[in-house]
Amino acid sequence: MERLQAAIERAREQRDTRGPARPQRGPAKDKTGVDEAWAALPEIKLQRRLMLRNRIMTFRSSKESTPYDILRTRLVQQAQTNGWRRIAITSPHSACGKTTTCANLAFGLGRQTGTRAVVLDFDLRRSGLGRILGQKGEIPMEDVLSGRVPFKDVAMRHGPNLAFGLGFGTSHRSAETLQSEQTRRVLEEIEAEYQPDLMLIDLPPMSASDDNFGFLNRIDAAIIVAEAEQTTMTQIDVAERQVAELTNVAGVVLNKCRYVNGAYGYEDGYY
Ligand SMILES: Nc1ncnc2c1ncn2[C@@H]1O[C@H](COP(=O)(O)OP(=O)(O)O)[C@@H](O)[C@H]1O
Ligand SMILES: [Mg+2]
Repeated sequence: MERLQAAIERAREQRDTRGPARPQRGPAKDKTGVDEAWAALPEIKLQRRLMLRNRIMTFRSSKESTPYDILRTRLVQQAQTNGWRRIAITSPHSACGKTTTCANLAFGLGRQTGTRAVVLDFDLRRSGLGRILGQKGEIPMEDVLSGRVPFKDVAMRHGPNLAFGLGFGTSHRSAETLQSEQTRRVLEEIEAEYQPDLMLIDLPPMSASDDNFGFLNRIDAAIIVAEAEQTTMTQIDVAERQVAELTNVAGVVLNKCRYVNGAYGYEDGYY
């Protein structure tokens, strides 16, 4: 608990000197070589049937993709308005649907030509993004963040404007890795080389460890995914306050809703 509190305090201090709302990172970018860097990434091989089984619905516009597409578009608007580029996805506890939401947002962003997105699995303890995308690999994200393996060795491209950085295996030094100077540098290098309009970062749940407390201050905003009928209001409230101490809260997504009333639902059958 003390470790957690100390991490929050440290992050708050760092954040106060940075100014959260409109992040400014360095001088105007040199665009040389960005197209080449994207083109050099290997194309990810996807099995759509497996992904549909894993609830990834956003390859094309459909009734099933609509809630995620609405979320995507609102997120892009928020990001443009506030100058956000790094967006994390977290939740109060595990299995709320972070990774599923992250993957659906990713392919939704991929369908928006003209927007480049890089999607990273930073849930170092339980990397799940590669699994739901049907990928097999051996390199843990920790190896990339510690500088042992270059990002381009794990990165894969889907179409011209969506790239995934997937990790495999389990880390036992995830909190230390995520708050390290080296991780800060790696993120900046990815931004410099690929110049994404958005980076989506899949994180662990807030309550599982101190991983997020040393990291959320490095991103611009976070989405909190809650699980309908499981996550309590208190859990949402605590997670929201913890995230808000470190970064902007982009919003809370109520996932796995079986009953949606007209107010926040969407009109079925508009296809
Ligand atoms: N909207 C949804 N409706 C039904 N099941 C879902 C939904 N989103 C996720 N799930 C399921 O919930 C489980 C946990 O999802 P996952 O995305 O791995 O959660 P997390 O990354 O938060 O641990 C998975 O079996 C996933 O298929
Ligand atoms: Mg996950």
